[in-house]
Amino acid sequence: MIVIIDFGSQYTHLISRRVRELGVKSEIVFPFTSSERIKRMNPDGIIFSGGPNSVYDRDAPDVDETLWKWILKNNIPVLGLCYGLHLIAKRFHGRIGKSERREYGITTVKIKKHNIIFRGLGEKEVVWMSHGDKVLDLPDTFEVLASSENCKYASFCYKNIYALQWHPEVVHTKNGMKMLNNFLFEICKARKDWNMEDFVERTVRDIKARVGNKKAIIALSGGVDSSVATVLASKAIGKNLIAVFVDTGLLRKNEGERVERIFRKFNLKFLKIDAKERFFRRLKGVKDTEMKRKIIGEEFIRIFEEVARKEKAEFLIQGTIYPDVIESGSRTADTIKSHHNVGGLPEDIGLEIIEPLSYLYKDEVRRIGKKLGIPDEIIKQHPFPGPGLAVRVTGEVNEENIRICREASYILEEELKKAGVFYDLWQAFAVTLEDRVVGVVGDQRKYGRIVALRIVESVDAMTANFAKLDWDLLERISTRITNEIPEVVSVAYFISNKPPQTIEPC
Ligand code: XMP
Repeated sequence: MIVIIDFGSQYTHLISRRVRELGVKSEIVFPFTSSERIKRMNPDGIIFSGGPNSVYDRDAPDVDETLWKWILKNNIPVLGLCYGLHLIAKRFHGRIGKSERREYGITTVKIKKHNIIFRGLGEKEVVWMSHGDKVLDLPDTFEVLASSENCKYASFCYKNIYALQWHPEVVHTKNGMKMLNNFLFEICKARKDWNMEDFVERTVRDIKARVGNKKAIIALSGGVDSSVATVLASKAIGKNLIAVFVDTGLLRKNEGERVERIFRKFNLKFLKIDAKERFFRRLKGVKDTEMKRKIIGEEFIRIFEEVARKEKAEFLIQGTIYPDVIESGSRTADTIKSHHNVGGLPEDIGLEIIEPLSYLYKDEVRRIGKKLGIPDEIIKQHPFPGPGLAVRVTGEVNEENIRICREASYILEEELKKAGVFYDLWQAFAVTLEDRVVGVVGDQRKYGRIVALRIVESVDAMTANFAKLDWDLLERISTRITNEIPEVVSVAYFISNKPPQTIEPC
């Protein structure tokens, strides 16, 4: 396996993905991860990511000296990218400084030395750069491998340590995958054994071995991750798996019936808990969305504790995926919204936790789901927040606010599907606003409700753009919403991107 140290680059996940695409397991760690932990991972090689800092900045993240000693003593291959390259130069007393010209975008580099990392490449390579600093002096012991017009030391190596000023992980570096391939297989001698095909078999075997004849519960929300984890666990332990589906009264239209219809077919004990009254009671009068998230999270935990006790379960299976693990391990990640996923149950719930998907990315989870025969209506659905429609009404959770949100979202989804654009969008939903506006209905003035539509395109939810949909389609949606939901007189459209607006407006 390959360890990737994340120095804050926006591409760290992409590096990790690329390594996996080449068939090698990868794991992301942080500069503050102890060197003992990294040693125990027994990596075939280590990649230093890029990052936004300059190496001489106060508090600039660096590689721990004990880790360096271990790397050098054991000749562990290292690949430093961008900021990672600067860190390598700094460790060996090179000099780094501001470049008179920032190099950003596509650049051509001249390969000066056909080292093993450039095996199979030409004399010149098109690469993607993004740096303001560069190495000004290198120790004599280092070998320069490539240069660009603006950057003499664009690539160098020393013993088993390699450095690239550019980003081989982004598609604009034409032969980036070849460079990574050379690093993994020629230099690290890594084994190609990260194979999705074996994943199901391996995981089912592991769950079976851990749970044995005991009982496990899983919080099944009907979302992609918990659904895939449920089906995997059901393959392993059958009826000893209790899939707990909580109907909070805050679900999308027909969602409860849909999840029940699909999961009753699998070999497991499906337990539907009707908790609408409980949730609505606790949320009465609460307008602050962070407070709503907190209350819903607490209520979920209570329900799971009750079920686990009653069912005498000893294990809790969770659909946590890799980005969730990484984000919660990062000290720098800012909490913009507390994500109360049902998956985020606390460890002190008194159950042993199993997270079968904790090494996978979303699209890998989707692939596994398909392989397990989970229908597209689950696999391809848009993300839906754990606290449900509660965070899609700006006012309090009550029958009217939730009904308007649910019905409007349903109409929106139906029209987008009819127009054939639904699956190209990241998310599309309606929000019930608290304000009222004047409308005229049947010659009468009416003070009515506003529904705002949030329809966005995105690849990872970190950034998003509002969808520039056809006006006629938007008009059809608006007309249907105001016709079919009597309280609504106005439909608005959020035309802000993320940032500054988040995807969920509440
Ligand atoms: P934001 O609103 O932060 O959302 O741009 C990014 C992604 O996260 C989802 N989201 C949530 N998911 N519980 C969840 O399980 C939450 O409280 C929550 N808030 C936002 C959002 O739908 C989007 O996909």
